[in-house]
Amino acid sequence: MKQIAIFSSGTGSNAKKIIDHLLSLKKKNNAAPVVSLIVCNKPEAGVLKIAAENNIPSLLIEKEKFFRGNAYIEELKAADIDFIILAGFLWKVPVALIKAFHRKMINIHPALLPKYGGKGMYGNFVHEAVITNKEKESGITIHYVDEVYDHGQIILQATCLVSDDDTPETLAKKVQVLEHRHFPAAVSLLATL
Ligand code: GRF
Repeated sequence: MKQIAIFSSGTGSNAKKIIDHLLSLKKKNNAAPVVSLIVCNKPEAGVLKIAAENNIPSLLIEKEKFFRGNAYIEELKAADIDFIILAGFLWKVPVALIKAFHRKMINIHPALLPKYGGKGMYGNFVHEAVITNKEKESGITIHYVDEVYDHGQIILQATCLVSDDDTPETLAKKVQVLEHRHFPAAVSLLATL
């Protein structure tokens, strides 16, 4: 049974969908992967509440140790983590951690990479840029994590239309629907590869 750590800095709506999906798979197949750790850098983040409600241990990480210490690799290995999901995790992942989980770490980005990725491109900044550039479509990208921000091999993309009257908020909602629809199933598949 593969064990997953979800890294999140925010509300954790994707984490919740993934947890629920894997729990429902587990009822049919005991070998289904499980979310066994939530990793977070913000004590006030909603995702920590989701972890507690689901009896999943959480690890609150510190900047100094993450960037200049061991990047928590020992803790992740000690917890038998096989696979890492970045779902709204806003710190750049240190190279040592990326190497330790080569092709065992994926990210979800709320736009169609390679456009609208990179440093500073998160949350509403992404949707604002998409609307400003009068794009006709946006969507989600699930990709492996490599050493460059939002750059690793693309695994899956799904699209939605951008209408003339969309605001960053309405577009964010459309994109979130896609995330919740596609991310849990992609995780269950990829974590077992
Ligand atoms: C998602 O939009 C994801 O694409 C981005 O961060 C957001 C996380 O949202 N990387 P949530 O915390 O899962 O609700």
